[in-house]
Amino acid sequence: MTAPASYPSHVSLIEYPHPALRRRAAEVTVFDDALRTFCGRMFEVMDLNKGVGLAAPQVAVSARIFVTDHERRKRDDDDHSVSDRRIWINPRIERTTGISAFEEGCLSFPGIYAKVHRHNQFDIVAQDEYGTERRLSLDVDAGDFLGIVVQHELDHLDGIVFVDHLTPTQLTLCRRKLGELEKNFKKATGSAGSILRR
Ligand code: CO
Repeated sequence: MTAPASYPSHVSLIEYPHPALRRRAAEVTVFDDALRTFCGRMFEVMDLNKGVGLAAPQVAVSARIFVTDHERRKRDDDDHSVSDRRIWINPRIERTTGISAFEEGCLSFPGIYAKVHRHNQFDIVAQDEYGTERRLSLDVDAGDFLGIVVQHELDHLDGIVFVDHLTPTQLTLCRRKLGELEKNFKKATGSAGSILRR
C-alpha cells in the first residue's frame, strides 16, 4: 500500500481514541509539491499545538511522514530563533543499543504524561521531502532529546501510541484521563473509537 497521491487541503489534530491513530501508515513513493505542501501544514498544526513532533496519522493521513522541532522545548512561545525543524519520510531505526527512560506526552493524549522506555543509542534512516535518504546517529543519554521524539513519532506510523508502552500500574494512573478522552470522542462522533483494552 502506498500513501495518497493527494493530501487534504485542511488538516487538524485528532485525539485518542480516533481509530486513525491505530492504522499502519503507508509508504510514501511520490516526492512532489503536494507532499511538501502537506509537510508545511503538519508544521502549522504542530506549532499551533506547541508540539515537538507530529506524525501524519495524528491528522488522520495514512502516510509514513512525521515532522519535528525538538528545540522548541527550550524556547519561550514567541522566540522563534530557537528552532530545528525537520521532516522525516519512510523512517526506520537500526543498530539499537541500551535503554533510556524519559517522561513523554503526546498531542493526541492531552493531559497525559508518563515515563516510557526507549532505545538509548540508535541510527535513524529517513528520506527528506525531496526523497534524499539520510542517516543520523542519536544518543539519548548523551543529551539527544531528538532521539526520544523520533522514536515516539515513528511509533505513530505503525499505529502504536505511547500509552501502549506503559506498565499496568502506570496505566492505572492514566485511566481517568483516558476515560475523559473516550467520553469526549463518543459525544462528538457517536462511536467508541479504538479504545485501549488492557
Ligand atoms: Co504522539
